[in-house]
Amino acid sequence: MILVTGGAGYIGSHAVVRLLQAGYDVVVLDSLENSSVEALSRVESIARRSLHFIQGDVRDQSCLHDLFASCDIDFVMHFAGLKSVSESLVKPMIYFDNNVGGTLSLCQAMDKAGVRKLIFSSSATVYGNVPAMAIHEGFPTREPTNPYGRSKLMNEEILRDLVSADSRWSIGLLRYFNPVGAHESGVIGEDPNDIPCNLLPYISQVAIGRMKMLSVYGNDYPTPDGTGVRDYIHVMDLVDGHLCAMQTVQSRTGIGVWNLGTGRGYSVLEMVRAFERVSGRSVPFQIVPRRQGDVAECWADPVKAEQELGWKARRTLDDMMADTWRWQCQNLNGYNNDDRFSSFGG
Ligand code: NAD
Ligand code: WQD
Repeated sequence: MILVTGGAGYIGSHAVVRLLQAGYDVVVLDSLENSSVEALSRVESIARRSLHFIQGDVRDQSCLHDLFASCDIDFVMHFAGLKSVSESLVKPMIYFDNNVGGTLSLCQAMDKAGVRKLIFSSSATVYGNVPAMAIHEGFPTREPTNPYGRSKLMNEEILRDLVSADSRWSIGLLRYFNPVGAHESGVIGEDPNDIPCNLLPYISQVAIGRMKMLSVYGNDYPTPDGTGVRDYIHVMDLVDGHLCAMQTVQSRTGIGVWNLGTGRGYSVLEMVRAFERVSGRSVPFQIVPRRQGDVAECWADPVKAEQELGWKARRTLDDMMADTWRWQCQNLNGYNNDDRFSSFGG
């Protein structure tokens, strides 16, 4: 059985669909602090299989003890954590407590239960400001620019030390670039609280009329059109990468680090145009000053994952846009209301 922490969240819920479809039994541990149980019932409806859900916190040792005692876990995918860069700047202690404390607690409980195979959700943010593209796993991890990024880097270092100290462990560190999109059914997707901080959810809410206008953070970067360039990866490609990494991690010991990206960057304006083309809606925007902490460009060298995991992102930019738009149209208020089959159609 696979334990998926944070399995009710955006990426975790998509991973659970894939795991169930691939025949694995899954137990989800999630505090629901940034997600809804509705996502899990939709996961079950897509996969046509049931999962086991425990509402709890990864920092709660007694909850983990009971979980490992009652479920026959042989592998853990650890998605649980807080992920807002801006929030981490104002509440750094909460980020270190949850993201670092959560991983420590989970690994302690795993060790006690004799389960030592883990995939950890890391981020391209651990590379910090990189002078040259594409970003290879061998690049140094420089000082990340915010507490969220530092919490991810600390986790990576803790997990490396754990593996060096005990050769029974096998751990995969997956460094995500910019996950976007939704399951192709439009039934599950990303459901940001409040105003979205990330580009594609914001564009999508402008297109549906919930937000008036996109602010493009700077058009004076040294990029082809002056706007920031990122490596957007379809969430279903990303979770396929987890299943491939799981095979590798299961078959050996030690630690491996892999970028999960496409190897291709798109600018903010390219994203706007692609979304307009696919949705048939217009996305008004205004150019505003750069956002503090943003880099001009960031994209992956994905070759290591291809060579070592046998995984490669396959979905196109249009797939990312079409699936985001389908999710948006079918769920005007995300998981809050059952408005999936609204007149907007998908
Ligand atoms: P998300 O917020 O949608 O999902 C995280 C889930 O973890 C939520 O369901 C939340 O309720 C749960 N959670 C938080 N703290 C918990 C705790 N202490 N105990 C139990 N559950 C807890 O985020 P996501 O976008 O699905 O991200 C998943 C992971 O991937 C995170 O670790 C995030 O840092 C990492 N990541 C995300 C991105 C991205 O752009 N979405 C990029 C790189 C890395
Ligand atoms: C993408 C591009 C913005 C919003 C963040 C985290 C990173 C990772 C993924 C977790 C940039 C521009 C954005 C808007 C804009 N998360 N933009 N107007 O900043 O690459 O990465 O999410 O690990 O750690 O930092 O993603 O989607 O916020 O921005 O012009 O309203 O869109 O400047 O060029 P980012 P993003």
